[in-house]
Amino acid sequence: MRKKIVAGNWKMNLSFEEGQQLTSELVNMYKDEAIQDVVVVLNPPFPHLYPVKRLIGDVAGIFVGAQNCSDKESGAFTGEVSAKILASFGVTHVILGHSERREYFKEDQALLATKVNQALAHGLTPIFCCGESLEIRESGTHEATVKAQLTASLFHLSPEEFSKVVIAYEPIWAIGTGKTASAEQAQEMHAALRGHLASKYGQAIAAQTSILYGGSANPGNAKELFGKPDVDGGLIGGASLKSRDFIEIVKSF
Ligand code: PGA
Repeated sequence: MRKKIVAGNWKMNLSFEEGQQLTSELVNMYKDEAIQDVVVVLNPPFPHLYPVKRLIGDVAGIFVGAQNCSDKESGAFTGEVSAKILASFGVTHVILGHSERREYFKEDQALLATKVNQALAHGLTPIFCCGESLEIRESGTHEATVKAQLTASLFHLSPEEFSKVVIAYEPIWAIGTGKTASAEQAQEMHAALRGHLASKYGQAIAAQTSILYGGSANPGNAKELFGKPDVDGGLIGGASLKSRDFIEIVKSF
C-alpha cells in the first residue's frame, strides 16, 4: 500500500510566533482526532524548521520538510542551505521543483536533478513537483510536458533511489488561484504519470509511488480529489496556514 501524504507548503509566510502557534494547534488536533494513518509533512521557511521540529517532538506521523535545498554538498555558497545541513536537524523531506522556483528562480531540469541527488544522498525524501501552465493545458500537450519533467529530473535514478521519491502534480493554473483541477483532471494526469513511472521502473515501483495533488486544494474539495484511485494526498499551500482547514484536509481520506 502506498502512503497517504498531506504536506503543507507554508511558502514565505508566518512570523516565528505564528509558526509556533500553527504548529501547536496542528499537533494537538492531529493527536486528538486520531488520524495517524496519514503522513503529515510541514514545510515551513528555513528558520522555522528546527523550532517546528521541537514542537512536534515525538508525535509519530508528523514530519518536517524544507521548501528547497542546495544542489551543492557544502562550502562557499553564501545564502544556500544544503541537504546535509537539513538532515542534521532532523528534517526528513524537501520540496523540489516547485513551479515558483522554476519560474522565479530559474531552476531548470538539470539543476533539479542535482538537487534530487543531494536530497537522496542525505536521506531526505524529495517531494518532486511537476505541472503545466494554462497555455500548455489549452494546447493539449500537458501530459507530454509533465511526463518530460519527470524524465528529465528523475529518470537517471536507480530503482532503489527512485522508490524514495514522492511526486506532486501541481497544475500551475491552479496554484493560489482558487481554481482547482477537477478530480477527474487530477485522476487523469496522476494515472498517466503512474503509467510513465511504470514504463521506466516497472509496475511494482509505480504502484508504490505516492502522487500528491496540489493547487487550491481545500477542505471543500479534498475529499473528492483524494477519493480518486491515483491521488494519494495533497501538497497544500494557502489552506496549510490555517490549522482547522489543514486538519480537515488531512481527515478527508
Ligand atoms: P495552493 O498552493 O494550495 O495555495 O494553491 C499549492 C502549492 O503551491 O504547493
